[in-house]
Amino acid sequence: MGTMYKQLEISYYGIDELTDVAKEILNFTTNYRVFAIDGEMGAGKTTLIKELCTQLGVSSTLSSPTYSIVNEYSTASDQKVFHMDLYRLQTIEEAVSIGIEEYLYSGNYCFIEWPSIIAHILPNDVVKIDIRVADGFRNLSIFTR
Ligand SMILES: Nc1ncnc2c1ncn2[C@@H]1O[C@H](COP(=O)(O)OP(=O)(O)O)[C@@H](O)[C@H]1O
Ligand SMILES: [Mg+2]
Repeated sequence: MGTMYKQLEISYYGIDELTDVAKEILNFTTNYRVFAIDGEMGAGKTTLIKELCTQLGVSSTLSSPTYSIVNEYSTASDQKVFHMDLYRLQTIEEAVSIGIEEYLYSGNYCFIEWPSIIAHILPNDVVKIDIRVADGFRNLSIFTR
């Protein structure tokens, strides 16, 4: 993903701190819309994304043509938020064929699990978040360009 600069490092111990963590992330990235979230299976990517969505005011889940890959949510003020899990995609062509670029460049919030397969088509102003699990706590590193 080219050169990125670490903006923020957050450590937290458990789910009860996640609301504050999500608020802090959103406060540091107010001008950004696309978030590529890396971390091993079980690191807490989905859990973090759900909290980010809650903090953005997501109030409902809409049906999506590619449901298991792209979940489409809606906020109380009718903004769409996309949550993608690309784990099952094998190639970038597959991602393109389901319209990933339209989501990425829609101007809506996009939170992406397993983003490496689409590294080459991510927007320049993507936020990269790495989640690492250590003894009983999580470390988040947040990078922007
Ligand atoms: N900060 C956390 N502290 C403790 N448990 C967590 C935390 N974040 C996630 N979990 C738990 O870890 C498990 C996997 O989380 P999940 O978000 O599905 O991971 P991923 O999407 O990275 O595979 C879930 O049972 C979730 O409740
Ligand atoms: Mg997940």
